Amino acid sequence: MKRHERVEKNVGLLALFMVIAVSIGGLVQIVPLFFQDVVNDPVEGLKPYTALQLEGRDVYIREGCVQCHSQMIRPFRAETERYGHYSVAGESVYEHPFLWGSKRTGPDLARVGGRYSDDWHRAHLYNPRNVVPESIMPAYPWLVQNTLDGKDTVTKIKAMRWLGVPYTDEDIEGAVAAVKGKTEMEALIAYLQVLGTSIKNKR
Ligand code: HEC
Repeated sequence: MKRHERVEKNVGLLALFMVIAVSIGGLVQIVPLFFQDVVNDPVEGLKPYTALQLEGRDVYIREGCVQCHSQMIRPFRAETERYGHYSVAGESVYEHPFLWGSKRTGPDLARVGGRYSDDWHRAHLYNPRNVVPESIMPAYPWLVQNTLDGKDTVTKIKAMRWLGVPYTDEDIEGAVAAVKGKTEMEALIAYLQVLGTSIKNKR
C-alpha cells in the first residue's frame, strides 16, 4: 500500500494530518498580525469611550442592536459610497468585545456618529416609525425611563483599563458623577454619536 493511500484510508491518521495542515495555515495567517503596528496601534485621535458612552455601549449590547447592525464597513465602493471610509483595524483596538456584527437587517453603524441629531436618535429609538414610516426596527421606549445609577461604572472602566484601554485615574474619579441620573437613552445616543468619528468621515 502506498504511503498516501494509507493516510487516506486511516481516519485517525487523516484527521491528524488535517489538524496539522490547518494549524500551519492558521499560524501563518494569524501570528504575524500580533506584530503589525497597523493592526495593534490605535488610529490617530482615537479616544477611549467616556463613562457615559461606555454605559451606552452596554445598553447597545444588552438590547441586541448588534444582531441587526454591523459596525464594519468593507473596502468596496458600494459600501464606502454609502457609509464613508472603510473600517480600519486601528479603530477597534479599544473595543472589548468588538461589535463588528455579521448581519445587516439595518444599515451599518460604524460611522453613524454625527450623521443625525440627538433629537433624531431620540425620536427614532423611542419608536423608529416616528421618523422612518416603513422601518421594521423595534421600538425602545423604556430607554427614556431607565436611569443610570453609576453603580458599576467604575468597575467597567477598571476592567477596560486592565484590558489595555488608556483610562486615567481622573477618568475613574469622575465616572460616577458623569453618568448618575442620566437616562439610558442619553447614554446610548452619546455612544452612537461617537461611532466612527476618529477617522474623518468622507461622504
Ligand atoms: C430587528 C432588527 C433591528 C434591531 C434589533 C435594531 N435595529 Fe436599528 N435599524 C433596523 C432597520 C431595518 C433600520 C433602517 C430603518 C430605520 O432607519 O429605522 C435601522 C436603522 C437604525 C439607525 C439609522 C441608521 C442610518 O444610517 O440611517 C440607527 C442609528 C439604529 N438603527 C440604531 C439601532 C440601535 C441603537 C439599536 C438597539 C437599541 C437597533 N438599531 C436595533 C433594524 C434593527
